[in-house]
Amino acid sequence: MRIDYQRLAPEDTEALVEFLLADPWPFHAGVQNADAIRQRVASGVYDDADNRTFWQLADGERAGLIRLTDLTDPTPMFDLRISSKWRGRGLGKAAVRWLTEYLFNEFPEIRRVEGQTRRDNAAMRAVFRACAYVKEAHYREAWPGPDGSVHDCIAYAILRRDWETGTTTPVAWDDEPARP
Ligand SMILES: CC(C)(COP(=O)(O)OP(=O)(O)OC[C@H]1O[C@@H](n2cnc3c(N)ncnc32)[C@H](O)[C@@H]1OP(=O)(O)O)[C@@H](O)C(=O)NCCC(=O)NCCS
Repeated sequence: MRIDYQRLAPEDTEALVEFLLADPWPFHAGVQNADAIRQRVASGVYDDADNRTFWQLADGERAGLIRLTDLTDPTPMFDLRISSKWRGRGLGKAAVRWLTEYLFNEFPEIRRVEGQTRRDNAAMRAVFRACAYVKEAHYREAWPGPDGSVHDCIAYAILRRDWETGTTTPVAWDDEPARP
């Protein structure tokens, strides 16, 4: 399968509407309707100083959407969606490896990249692990579900120096100060 990445262009708005409305996206909050999506595009949440969005093209077809956020912050974050038709074929892992390389190359000052997902999103958690992201935080009951349920939120990150050297710096979990 040939995989390409293409920055979202202003003329892609209707393709974006079609892509986002084609799947239910249970792990994403927010109302999904065409006008709301068009308004979000117009407001710059997909492309401005803080945000960039890319299509992931599989054999030329729009299979995935990668949104990079907090780009003016020392820790950029990302959101990833693979169309249900294309899931389970390695595109999620390819997307995270690509966006990690893109961010570290494009923004020399950033030291880390972070992503968050819902605790029960087993596929995304597998993608983070496969791409050498390390679990850094477990936010209990931080993610309200659309049906009134509440979920834990899990944060993963990769450090530039680990990415460059292929190493893994563990989190210093046992750092509570000793009693005086
Ligand atoms: C999460 C998502 C991006 C993964 O993309 P994908 O192309 O299916 O991922 P890949 O094929 O590269 O890898 C999927 C991994 O998850 C694993 N996986 C898939 N479903 C799983 C499940 N229900 N339980 C456990 N692991 C699962 C696969 O085995 C694979 O891991 P492996 O390489 O260790 O075998 C995609 O499913 C998606 O877009 N989901 C809806 C949107 C979403 O949840 N986005 C993340 C928001 S933070």
